[in-house]
Amino acid sequence: MWAHRHLLGIRPLTREDILLVLERAAHWREFLEASPKFENILSGYSMVCLFFEPSTRTRMSFEMAGKLLGMNVLNFSLEGSSLEKGESFRDTVRTIARMKADVLVVRHRDSGVPEYLASFLPCHVVNAGDGMREHPTQALLDLLAIRRTLGRIEGLRVAILGDILHSRVARSLALALMKLGNSVVFSGPPTLVPESVLALGAERVFPVEQAVEGADVVYLLRIQRERQEAGYFPSLQEYTRFFGLGERLLTRMKEGAFIMHPGPVNRGVEIEHRFVEHESSLIEEQVTCGVAVRMAVLEILLRGEKTS
Ligand code: CP
Repeated sequence: MWAHRHLLGIRPLTREDILLVLERAAHWREFLEASPKFENILSGYSMVCLFFEPSTRTRMSFEMAGKLLGMNVLNFSLEGSSLEKGESFRDTVRTIARMKADVLVVRHRDSGVPEYLASFLPCHVVNAGDGMREHPTQALLDLLAIRRTLGRIEGLRVAILGDILHSRVARSLALALMKLGNSVVFSGPPTLVPESVLALGAERVFPVEQAVEGADVVYLLRIQRERQEAGYFPSLQEYTRFFGLGERLLTRMKEGAFIMHPGPVNRGVEIEHRFVEHESSLIEEQVTCGVAVRMAVLEILLRGEKTS
């Protein structure tokens, strides 16, 4: 039974909660193949997307999900808002909630903002990525893409490579995978995979060649240029050569293993250009699963046990 008013992270979810989202998301994933698509079960509800960091996939797929289910969807834009006139963040969100929004989807550079909003807003709050903490709908869509492709989502080995230290995607995904009985290994430049990440419960394996061996899925994280400037690795070229997915690493992967990436992709940095659309890449499937998972999350939050 789903007992959450908000979706703030993977950490508070049970295995059953995750499986419920996946079950409904699988239904919506099939629905997305139809054209035209009509399903207005959330007609009369309103959702506001508040993104204080750039986003294409998450923001647009929430918008798409809400509209496909018949919701009124509003996108808040920082530019031109009264925040620019000095209104506080708290007053801004209280004002939006007072317009009787039912769901507020928030992305913010600071960890903990969704919890903060959930502590005083009367509407449902959904975390669309907060600082370095969690990105729960990304993890859920990744699970859906894996289950749809491999036919199962337990007993798998998943290697997550790259900037684990700063990645909310890695945190949420590792937690979700482990709750369902999968094993997770982290690898990448040791500066970006420090001992502290072991607290999540995953293994740390070096070098990356060893980490990908035997993995059913190799999940690459986006490398942000500012990490290089901060001295975590010497150059992007060196990152690509020693930690990126190219022919050398591909030959170490087991036959039938899949490649994933949350996007946006730095082609030629963490993954060689031609592998983005490789037959073993799930990157485009992840995008479609993103719409399905967000439909499921909105449905479950607003209709609870009435989902069918
Ligand atoms: N994966 C992801 O969160 O992408 P966006 O930043 O484009 O939303």
